[in-house]
Amino acid sequence: MPGGIHATTADGPAPIPFLRLSGVTKRFDETQVLRSTDLEIAQGEFFTLLGPSGCGKTTLLRILSGFESASSGEVRFRGKDLGRTPAERRPFNMVFQSYALFPHMSVAGNVAYGLRTKGAGREEIRERVRGILELVHLPDAGPRPVSELSGGQQQRVALARALVNEPEMLLLDEPLGALDLKLRKFLQDELRSIQRRLGTTFIYVTHDQEEALAMSHRIALMNAGEVVQVGGPREIYEQPQSRFVAEFIGEANVLACKVLAAGRNEAEVVLDGGGACTLRKYGDARLVPTDPALAVVRPEHLQIGGAEPLLKGVVRQNVFLGTHCRYDVEVDGQIVRVAGSTAGAPAEGAVEICLVPGRGVVVPDEPASAVVQQAGRQGGSAAEDADDA
Ligand SMILES: Nc1ncnc2c1ncn2[C@@H]1O[C@H](COP(=O)(O)OP(=O)(O)OP(=O)(O)O)[C@@H](O)[C@H]1O
Ligand SMILES: [Mg+2]
Repeated sequence: MPGGIHATTADGPAPIPFLRLSGVTKRFDETQVLRSTDLEIAQGEFFTLLGPSGCGKTTLLRILSGFESASSGEVRFRGKDLGRTPAERRPFNMVFQSYALFPHMSVAGNVAYGLRTKGAGREEIRERVRGILELVHLPDAGPRPVSELSGGQQQRVALARALVNEPEMLLLDEPLGALDLKLRKFLQDELRSIQRRLGTTFIYVTHDQEEALAMSHRIALMNAGEVVQVGGPREIYEQPQSRFVAEFIGEANVLACKVLAAGRNEAEVVLDGGGACTLRKYGDARLVPTDPALAVVRPEHLQIGGAEPLLKGVVRQNVFLGTHCRYDVEVDGQIVRVAGSTAGAPAEGAVEICLVPGRGVVVPDEPASAVVQQAGRQGGSAAEDADDA
């Protein structure tokens, strides 16, 4: 995992964060689009800003780049306040969804542009352009006009152009957003491996949770102008602190329950219309006995049958997904999704659902977020939508 840089103070070495945002807000006229945001990003991190459309990801990225100024708060880079540093003097580069290449120039001309404006020598430019085009797997594309290249190739040129200046940080705003799914997945792997190889700090914006999980060291999940949770992919998937996080990342059954007893890290709850169980608890929300709360249970945290049934329902659909199958079980009018093995005969009819011990999370009661529903669950592939009950 990437680390920070260190400076010595009277008290011994104190880490200076590579990048630190403190209390950053943004207002456009009367509209508050970013609420107070605090973030620390380490050198070498692949850090992703993830969230639904309109939540403020691009605004935050533009504040970092210097294209936009914050309404209040501070951005410090290696300890230095960037408030008065204009975009062109910040040691960062940006990559956009729209490539923003010079269409009349060759690939090499595009990549070399930044080096030329900095006054680099011919030989140095040639060497660096060659090296970077190799890195993005376009070793022979130098002389070609960019307009002849495919979208995926153009995005690699844009990446090469941004990386050739060896920026301290690369800011990428949905760089794969315009590409079809297959190319997108392929370039996700490439971007990830380029980032890991170079060790350049990437701040990456996406609204695609799978992309964020696959590529990032850490993710900041945003909703309505606010960072709601920051953590590594596994942490943010396994330890959601709110309903929004649980539903935005991966697939979750959200079941109404009542708190029976609550400790620091877990709570005893009873599901509405079901049994009692112990669930993990993350974050510092206080849960009090008899309060309503929500049990967040991933399909793989549930199984059909077992010693301590939690819920009873009727299998409405059994969907074969290759590695596993998914049961849609109707419980009191709500569909609960349960992951099952593909071995043996599939379960049918009335069933009992059990919790895999140690799994499941309790979060405070909160209505479903409209934005999650609008964004649509991205896990719903064509195969999953097939009706083969
Ligand atoms: N220049 C501007 N003037 C007024 N409002 C703006 C401006 N730029 C952005 N906004 C508003 O700020 C909010 C956040 O916009 P932003 O572009 O940061 O969202 P986003 O998370 O990048 O969304 P998307 O995923 O759709 O790109 C939106 O409601 C948007 O309409
Ligand atoms: Mg955006």
